[in-house]
Amino acid sequence: MSQDSHKQDAARAALKHVLPELTPRSILGIGTGSTVNFFIEALAGEKDQFDGAVASSEATAERLRQHGIPVYDLNAVEPPRFYIDGADEANHRLELIKGGGGALTREKILAAASETFLCIIDETKQVDMLGDFPLPVEVIPMARSYVGRELVRLGGDPEYRAGFTTDNGNIILDVHHLDLGRPIKAEEAINQITGVVTNGLFAKRPADRLFVATASGVTEKGR
Ligand code: A5P
Repeated sequence: MSQDSHKQDAARAALKHVLPELTPRSILGIGTGSTVNFFIEALAGEKDQFDGAVASSEATAERLRQHGIPVYDLNAVEPPRFYIDGADEANHRLELIKGGGGALTREKILAAASETFLCIIDETKQVDMLGDFPLPVEVIPMARSYVGRELVRLGGDPEYRAGFTTDNGNIILDVHHLDLGRPIKAEEAINQITGVVTNGLFAKRPADRLFVATASGVTEKGR
């Protein structure tokens, strides 16, 4: 089976988990990326079961609207019942690296603001230790060089994501070779650098439930 069909399996498993808890007033937080796109496709068939969604990116908002799902401003609605999103890496404590698609800041806001964070991945994203995937860091443009030097001081090797601007008008540094053995400490240390908006470590606020699609089915892990 292909990686795409695994992503689809994880998305369907998450939808099955979500549906029994929805009411016509429910709001869902929806992440960004190819795995979540399968979730949106499946969700579109259940439009009557909930009110609408808050999106973690302009791309996701557009896709939701195309499927006829109302998109709201986070400030205009009750806290989302669930936040559903993919990840670039996930460890056994459900700590994540996210932001490969560059939407990390809004993703972190939605993960923080929602009641329950469901993460959907295929098995290639499962790791013993976070950090093979370069850590995305969103940075205010004028702070790029300064933040880069500070990330080197922390042991990282930052790479400017050329030609990419986030939905918030900022830039991304993808940081290689960081020691993420203590993810919460690393998340805090990077966020302390002036000019950093946020970083893609989801350790202080990990997923609540992880759906991992494998060739033999979807496994679920909770915290
Ligand atoms: C988007 O910014 C990311 O955090 C995505 O959640 C992550 O990159 C996973 O994307 P895929 O589902 O496309 O692998």
